[in-house]
Amino acid sequence: MGTLRDAAADAGVRVGAAVDADSLRTDTDYRRTLSSEFDAVVAENAMKWGRLSDGEGCYDFTDADDIVAFANRNDMYVRGHTLVWHRMYPDWLRPWSRSEASARRTLRTHVQTVAGRYRGRVDAWDVVNEAVADDGGLRETQWLASLGPEYLDRAFEWADDVSDADLFYNDYGADGLSAKSDAVYDLVSEMVARDVPIDGVGLQLHVFDETVPPADVAANVERLTELGLTVHVTELDVGIGEAVVDADEQADYYRDVVSAAVDAGAEAVVTWGVDDGQSWLPARGWGEAPLLFDERFRRKPAYHGVADALSK
Ligand code: G3I
Repeated sequence: MGTLRDAAADAGVRVGAAVDADSLRTDTDYRRTLSSEFDAVVAENAMKWGRLSDGEGCYDFTDADDIVAFANRNDMYVRGHTLVWHRMYPDWLRPWSRSEASARRTLRTHVQTVAGRYRGRVDAWDVVNEAVADDGGLRETQWLASLGPEYLDRAFEWADDVSDADLFYNDYGADGLSAKSDAVYDLVSEMVARDVPIDGVGLQLHVFDETVPPADVAANVERLTELGLTVHVTELDVGIGEAVVDADEQADYYRDVVSAAVDAGAEAVVTWGVDDGQSWLPARGWGEAPLLFDERFRRKPAYHGVADALSK
């Protein structure tokens, strides 16, 4: 049997995984699985502001550079995650007490330092992550408080000034059809109408309390692509527990949702991790064994579900 990477190439899409720099350096099985089975990577944490910077003007790109170098060596597509987020930002910015001018300068410097560094080596950026609240309004973050709603447009423009990557808005809970996905749709349509340099939308697709109907994911992908935007599934995982009860149901859901997204026009499917040994979900009690490989990097039924979806 071929690899997921082969199946994705035949289907004309990217298949990726979120990665951890330490595992990449130390674990040969991890490295082998990643480079043979996937053709795209995203840093699970290494490109977040709080991981890159421990003082104003100070950056340590070691982990992020290692991930990008691995990807470039193995001819993999790189998703950058993430330039503007309300979480995992540096301690030196806390407590939040910046004037508007200082907030603007600080945010612009960060966006342009990071996006500019990886010009030509990162293919897509999640420029803004999770700016919409669960009720559909803009989330009350430090960026909204300091700069108002225009911070989103500015972030995309600042990134566009220094980067040739595709620029994405990325969010969770906006995968299918819901008040929140309507709000994300409205947000990005208005950005397109204002000529903001946005190229795509990332649907995270974390599945743990309930499944999102695959037909709803397809409808959402279709309406977003009709705006001229690229859609990526960016953080897919399916915890066994409430949403699916066992490995077979998990495999069926992976197959159906990946098939629906790709058939509707999604151009990349990225899982939020490589193997079940390293996933954010079980640690929070939000479902077990959510990924495509078990902790010994053996292919699971879920793997075959995704392979089937890509091989149709
Ligand atoms: O590495 C340190 C470790 O040295 C320390 O001992 C330990 C103690 O808490 O913390 C470790 O860092 C944690 C890190 O994950 C690595 O495990 C951080 O505390 C923890 O906050 C961090 O959580 C990450 C979370 O984003 C917050 O940044 C998760 O790994 C990561 O999977 C999660 O990813 C997010 C996406 O970026 C956006 N969408 C939702 C997704 C899941 O929450």
